[in-house]
Order: sequence, then structure tokens, then C-alpha cells
Amino acid sequence: MDEPAGPRALEALATEDRRFPPPAGFADRAVVSDPGIYDRAERDLEGFWAEQARTLQWRKPFTKVLEWDLPYAKWFADGELNVAENCLDRHVLAGHGDRVAFHWEGEPGDSRRITYRELQDLTNRCANALKALGVRTGDRVAIYLPMIPELPAAMLACARIGAPFTVVFAGFSAEALASRIDDSEAKLLITADGGYRKGGIVPLKKNADDAAARARTIEHLLVVRRTKQAVPWTEGRDVWWHELVDAQSPECPAESLPAEHMLYLLYTSGTTATPKGIVHTTGGYLTGVATTHRTIFDLRAGDVYWCAADIGWVTGHSYIVFGPLANGATSVLYEGTPDFPDKDRWWQVIEKYKVSILYCAPTAIRTFMKWGAEHVAKHDLGSLRLLGSVGEPINPEAWLWYRKTIGGGRCPIVDTWWMTETGMILITPLPGLVTTKPGSATFPFPGVKVDVVDESGASVPLGGAGYLVIERPWPAMLRGIYKDDRRYRETYWSRFPGRFFAGDGAKRDAEGYLWLMGRVDDVMKISGHRISTTEVESALVSHPRVAEAAVIGREDLITGQAIFAFVTLRSGNEGSAALSLELREHVARSIGAIARPKTIMFTPDLPKTRSGKIMRRLLRDIANGVALGDTTTLADASVVEMIRSASGSGSED
Ligand code: WT7
Repeated sequence: MDEPAGPRALEALATEDRRFPPPAGFADRAVVSDPGIYDRAERDLEGFWAEQARTLQWRKPFTKVLEWDLPYAKWFADGELNVAENCLDRHVLAGHGDRVAFHWEGEPGDSRRITYRELQDLTNRCANALKALGVRTGDRVAIYLPMIPELPAAMLACARIGAPFTVVFAGFSAEALASRIDDSEAKLLITADGGYRKGGIVPLKKNADDAAARARTIEHLLVVRRTKQAVPWTEGRDVWWHELVDAQSPECPAESLPAEHMLYLLYTSGTTATPKGIVHTTGGYLTGVATTHRTIFDLRAGDVYWCAADIGWVTGHSYIVFGPLANGATSVLYEGTPDFPDKDRWWQVIEKYKVSILYCAPTAIRTFMKWGAEHVAKHDLGSLRLLGSVGEPINPEAWLWYRKTIGGGRCPIVDTWWMTETGMILITPLPGLVTTKPGSATFPFPGVKVDVVDESGASVPLGGAGYLVIERPWPAMLRGIYKDDRRYRETYWSRFPGRFFAGDGAKRDAEGYLWLMGRVDDVMKISGHRISTTEVESALVSHPRVAEAAVIGREDLITGQAIFAFVTLRSGNEGSAALSLELREHVARSIGAIARPKTIMFTPDLPKTRSGKIMRRLLRDIANGVALGDTTTLADASVVEMIRSASGSGSED
């Protein structure tokens, strides 16, 4: 197999033998304390999920559970429901209207407490505004907002009227936004004047204008006022949220929608330069995220849950918005970065709201480790009782630090493996049942079946490593790539026919514990975010001075991987620190700051096979300082020597 690109510490995993059983007092009271759940789901998969689905409110009950026409699944297909009704009205009708849905904390320190009734009200007004702007069931809406309460409200408003939405992370560029609008053919763009970031203002409206000028389908911009600076305005096209939404009725009937109605599209990076529109639908998705959220995070009455991801990524869709709200949870929603105004901001938020469940990414944990425990020690984190991790492999050191320094040694950790495509967590401990090992995501969720296979698709015996595949459908699985059936089949279903190929390497130890080892394709994981090497390469090559570029993920102690770019310039150009800076900014402008290369190395040539393919794997080894393997297939072996001897000298931040 290709060598997985995860942190080197993972190599030591086979010897990791520390184990942590669920604390006694925790297991007794856990939402799931009966190990029979695994057998039950295994014996009767459809019965298990039907039972979970029936905890939701259906307008028309389903009679069918799963129809599996490989590679497309339908779940609960003849049933009808509405996601917003399940996330809001249901709880208000049950007498929980005054329960807090979100404790919202703004970056500058302002805050808002939003109850279920208030969120319902805001959602309905927004849904009526969408209708007033001509949005009908089935029309697509693009959302480009910071982490403010209007973001979940806009998503729920779309769900209420059955308009599939696509949220574009507010850190993405105008160009990235435009290409997503184009592909989804969205007719409305919901945005804000700006967003706060580390005290500064991100010009969202300006980016939105640039994107709308490029994307032909946008009829209106609905603009939330957040940062209040003057913004460009197109009369007739642009509409202020506070003028239109506030004037609407707080009543809006929820559409009864088929379970397979498209809920949203979310674009994610693959191995080519064009992001894929991952399709998620209604009934199975909500069943999957509600069930996993309740059982894995052990949600109990009185919990205050905080998923510190951004709603622009799938983690936020499933585990800030839909899972928690379907379960009637009380969450924290935080707008800003962990170090604004100071490096203890997260711990201050946890103390302020008495957060009991924290879900975040290994890159954040490693950053806090670097900053030091003194920032944590300033605050009382005694309210915490469960910790979660997601987005990339968590190294045992970070896991142990998280457990001790943040969790006070008393909180179980759930390391949850999943992806944009899976919609819901698939590999994870159940915190009341499973003994954990630092760095292992442990076992598949009940009803989920995975395997670790070799090149030929044969199961690798315990103790071995290979490719992770998923063996059977699950309710929140993607329903394809938007408008691209061929790419869907090729990307996920062709390498191991009949099985879902995740793109991850995995190891199973002697006891069957799963250790995820990183991507095996050309997808990098930068702070847990997916960026394709080709996407960054084409951004680099679009610069007039660049002839050719090869991009790889280099191991990074904090961000997991960091972007390392080998760049060959057009003749007549010289590499320099200034040009390096310019190229890095060029990539940030064309994709977003998240894709800005950390290091650029200018090289007169790139190692290629005789057929002309750039040998990225070799470059990865050079950048990571790994001993080089076989270079005999190279067209010109001297190129490697030259790059290697120069590789200490790439210019960085
Ligand atoms: C990729 C999917 C789904 C949440 C955010 C990421 C990696 C995710 C883990 C984990 C090891 C993990 C995989 C996967 N990944 N969680 N707990 N342990 N690796 O979603 O952007 O679609 O990325 O994230 O490599 O393929 P995504």
C-alpha cells in the first residue's frame, strides 16, 4: 500500500498498551450501558435503525427501511418528515421551548442565549424571507456566514421549506465560493457584512459580491449585519436580513418531505482539483446523527455540550446543528479563535457555561499542549465529564495530555472516526462500554461493519495494516456526488467492488482495535481539514511565474500535516523569499488561508517517472526526511539528489 501520511508517532502504535476502562460511576449511568447493543444491531440491522428512526417525528410513517441498490442506498424511503420540525417544533410542543438551544459566545465577548422557542421563531421568519425572495422547495441556497446564530437558523429555514443548502466555510475565498455556487446552481446567497477573526474583520460581503459576479445563478444576497462596517451594496439584488427577516411572520408551516429529499450539499476535496458536492438527504441522515450524538456523547439531561468545530465543515453540520438539536441538547456556539483575546479563551468559555461535553480536533489539543497547561489552570474545568476527538489521528501523547490536563483524569475520551461522506460517526468507543487505548478509535458503531484489506481486497489478519473499507450501508451515508454519478462510483466503489473505500490506511491490533493511520491518497489533512494536493498545485500553476508545482503534506507537530510545495519557475525567473511570500498569498487568495503553503521550495526540476508522472511519494519522503526507497523508475535520478541536498532551505513563515 502507499505509505500513509500520518504523524510518525503512529508507527509506535502497535506497542501502545495503556488502556482505560470506562470509570465505574460513568458506566452505571451511561445512555448505553448494555453491551447487547452490538449483537442486537448485528442480528437485525434494519430493525435496529428502524427503532432509532422512530424516535423522530414522522409526518408519514415509513414502512420500508433499507433499499440497497449498490452503490445507492435509500433509507425509510416511503416515509415523510421535516428536519426543522424535528429539531425545533417537537421540543417546543413537548414543553421545552424555554430550554437553551445555544449559548452563543461572540469573539469580541458579546453573547446571546437562544432558546428552542427563539430559534424556532428566527428559523420561521427566515424561511418566510426565503419564500419572499422566490426560493421554493428544491431550489438551492448557498450560505457563507460566520459562526453566528443566523447560520444554524438559515440552515434550518432551508430545511423547513425543503430547499437544499450548501454551507461554504467563511474562511474560503471568493473563487472557492463561486465554484460551489456554480456547481450547486444556488439562486440565493446568505452572507454577512463581515466576520470577526482575531480582532480583525473578514470582508465576507466583498467576497460574496466577487463570487456573485462570477456565478451566474445568484438572484439575491441576504445579508446579516454583524461587523457593521460600510459594505458595497447592489440595489434590487441585496437585501438586509434585519429588514426582511425581522418583518416576517414567526409562523411558517414545515413542508412534509420524503425521507430521501436532499437536505444539503457539502463540498469536499478529493484527489483532483475540483471539490465534490457530497449529497446528504433527510430521514436516514437525521436518524444517524441523532443516534450517534446521543449515544457516543452520552447525552443526559442537564448536559452542556460544546463542539468546537466550524459549521462550515461536516462536523458542524452533524454535531453542532442537526444531531444536538434533534436531541434537544443545550450547546455552546463560539464564534472566534482559541487565542483571542488570550490563550485561555476556550477554558474561560467552559467555565462560564459549565460545559460538560467537549468535542474538538487533535490539532487544537496539540496547540494547547504547546501553549502550556498554565492557561488551562486559570479556570475551573470541573464541569467536564466527557471528551471527544475528531478529524485526524490523535497521537497517544496528545490523547494522554487531553485526558489529564483537560479532563482531570476522570473523563472518558471518544476518538471518533468518520468523514464528510459518511455523514455520521462510524468508528468510535461507546463511552460506557468500551475500554479505550490512547490513539485508537476502537471499534465500529453498532451495525457498522468495516474491514482492513490488502491491495487485492483480502482481509488482513489481526495485527496487520491495510486499507479501510466499509462493508454495508448506514443511514447517514452520502447519496452520491452531486451531478457526477461516474466520479461517485469511481472514487468510492471501484477500488474494492461492492465496498466503500474511505481513502484511509488502518491497522487492527491483536484485539481487533482499529488504529486509523491517515489518508493513502493525494488528500492532505491540514489541522484536520481536507485539502487536495492537486487543488493547491493548480492554484500555484495559475500564477504567471510558475511553470510546474508538486505539493505534498509534510508532518507537522501541531497541524498534523503542513503544506510543502516544490515549485519550478518559468524561465527568466529567480526564486526568492519575496516570490515565496507572493505565491503563498496567491494560493490563500485563490482557495482560502487554510490552503496557504507553509513552505515553498524552488527547484529547477521535479522528479518524474519515465512516463512523466511527478513522483509525489518521493517528494514526500524528501520533505519528511525519510530514507529514500527505490528511485530506479526515475527519468533523471540526479534531480532527487539535488532537491534533497537543498531541502533544508525551503522558505517558511
Ligand atoms: C478524513 C475525513 C468527519 C469529521 C471531520 C473530517 C480523517 C477523521 C478521524 C479520526 C483518524 C480521522 C480521515 C478521514 N479522520 N476522523 N478520529 N482518526 N482520522 O472530515 O474532512 O471529510 O475528512 O478525516 O483521514 O478520511 P473530512
